[in-house]
Amino acid sequence: MKKFSVNDLSICYSDDNESLRKINMEIEANAITVLFGPAGGGKSTFLRVLNRLNDLADVKTMTGEVLFNGVDILDPKLDVIELRRKIGMVFSRPVPLPLSIYENVAYGLMMAGERNKKKLDLAVEGALRQAVLWDEVYDRLSDSGFAISGGQQQRLCLARVLALEPEVIMLDEPTSALDPVSTSKIESLLTELKEKYTIILAPHNVQQAARMADFAAFFLMGELIEYSGGKDMFLKPKDKRTQDYITGRFG
Ligand SMILES: Nc1ncnc2c1ncn2[C@@H]1O[C@H](COP(=O)(O)OP(=O)(O)OP(=O)(O)O)[C@@H](O)[C@H]1O
Ligand SMILES: [Mg+2]
Repeated sequence: MKKFSVNDLSICYSDDNESLRKINMEIEANAITVLFGPAGGGKSTFLRVLNRLNDLADVKTMTGEVLFNGVDILDPKLDVIELRRKIGMVFSRPVPLPLSIYENVAYGLMMAGERNKKKLDLAVEGALRQAVLWDEVYDRLSDSGFAISGGQQQRLCLARVLALEPEVIMLDEPTSALDPVSTSKIESLLTELKEKYTIILAPHNVQQAARMADFAAFFLMGELIEYSGGKDMFLKPKDKRTQDYITGRFG
């Protein structure tokens, strides 16, 4: 099933450079779609369009269409809060709220008006289990979200997104600040989560892109150069520029 259909999407920030140019791309549900390519290619910009985080940026023009479950999410009348609940985002550096571990996970639900302690307890435990963090923190849920390691904090941020029962999880370089052990925990976690969610990942290097991609999109200077299944992309890229990037000739 197609989760997103992006049609002729172009976006210009106020510097007048086209940061995305006529992007056409369909994103599959229950798979990991990887966006990769050199710095400034437009990966983060693209992610921010999908949950309308770009509303907060200095965007001059945006044209084209982005369908999420068949509905145009660029429609100015769209309920953006509701959209961001369905499309969660994890950033490169874990940013726990200055609250307890429990409150970090329950936060979104509490903001949405949930007050039932039992329901919150269940949701917090469920999300922490899905994020494979429960066993490490269940006996100190009232400790600060900062009192755990960087890798644990990143899984805490993931749990916060999962608690809202999203359909899509987007991750922008989620392991760039993590050690290899924490990185591999997050990677295997994402592989499990794709059974239930649509995952869109901008990895911080080509190796992670190749390990994780069911589908892969190569972005270069605002253009989508090549888009294919992960194996095809990393074993037999078609475009010379993709080949050069994958083999480390530039980037
Ligand atoms: N908030 C913004 N305001 C103005 N220009 C921006 C903004 N965000 C990104 N850009 C510009 O848009 C282009 C694409 O940037 P973007 O951050 O999307 O690339 P990226 O592929 O995520 O790069 P990286 O690998 O460094 O994270 C760049 O030229 C950048 O300078
Ligand atoms: Mg980026």
